[in-house]
Amino acid sequence: MQMNIRPRRNRKSESIRNMVQETRLDVSQLVYPLFLVDGEKIRNEVSSLPGNFRLSGDEALKTISECVENHLTSFILFPSIVEEHKDKEATYSWKKENFYLKMAERIKREFPETTLISDVAMDPYSSDGHDGLVIDGRIDNDKTLPILARMAVAQAQAGFDILGPSDMMDGRVGAIRRALDDAGYADTSIMSYTAKYASAYYGPFRDALDSAPKAGDKKTYQMNPANKREALIEAALDTAEGADFLMVKPALNYLDVIHLLKENTQLPVAAYHVSGECAMLIAACQNGWLNYEQAMPEALLSIKRAGADIIITYFAKDFAKMVKG
Ligand code: PBG
Repeated sequence: MQMNIRPRRNRKSESIRNMVQETRLDVSQLVYPLFLVDGEKIRNEVSSLPGNFRLSGDEALKTISECVENHLTSFILFPSIVEEHKDKEATYSWKKENFYLKMAERIKREFPETTLISDVAMDPYSSDGHDGLVIDGRIDNDKTLPILARMAVAQAQAGFDILGPSDMMDGRVGAIRRALDDAGYADTSIMSYTAKYASAYYGPFRDALDSAPKAGDKKTYQMNPANKREALIEAALDTAEGADFLMVKPALNYLDVIHLLKENTQLPVAAYHVSGECAMLIAACQNGWLNYEQAMPEALLSIKRAGADIIITYFAKDFAKMVKG
């Protein structure tokens, strides 16, 4: 058979396959989410996300040390707040005694080489379980902004390197940027949840933080999963308002949106491989239906191939350990 073009020639050995590989995963572009709780010696597994834990400070430091040994140095931190610290205005989010802020300070003191990303949204601290301020059953966009700005300044003060507004209020990146600059934190970065969808795949995360909305859903602020062009409006706004990174969330069901932002914007694009997406894969592997060491990196690779520069994933630690061998 005469054939000029035989694509299999470039697949004939591992060395050649590696040479022509178009997309690579690098641990330096992975971010590991950690759920934090107040207290000591707490390591409480999230039942809907096996292998992930609510960690007290001492335990979080152990996990971080293990990650750093495997060259994984970026973390996104989320607080699990007890009910008595929650209120309508999420006031605990900026209070001096907030264990989450103290924890960030402690991590930066013990591991200055780490990059810490915060979560800016009211839901973990809100007695209503919403990302914005609820007034008469509705989320008030403009009254939420000063609360987010105050939370953001407290996080910058605690030493977070990058702040992550995940609330989807209009104008929040600009409000946070102004507040940070006015308070002397011009160097604190913003990774905006640019295209964050009203997704069913946040379930295990809400279990971990006990942060599900007490009434209603998040559809008046998070995006409709059916929409793609709308992500470009959000990206243009976040860019103009001063974001340093754009994020798409979730990741695997939204690879087209990741690709769209990568092609049409200039900022680095992050993708949040969310709790439910990871939980599905974990469950299939625990059942023996998929092979974890093969299926997990393939999922990460597909997110990278779609155009993500940075991947936030609950698999970051396992991946870092796997490549180190
Ligand atoms: C809250 C927030 C959520 C996630 C990150 N920040 C949940 C939500 O919007 O209800 C989800 C992350 C995950 O599922 O892994 N502002």
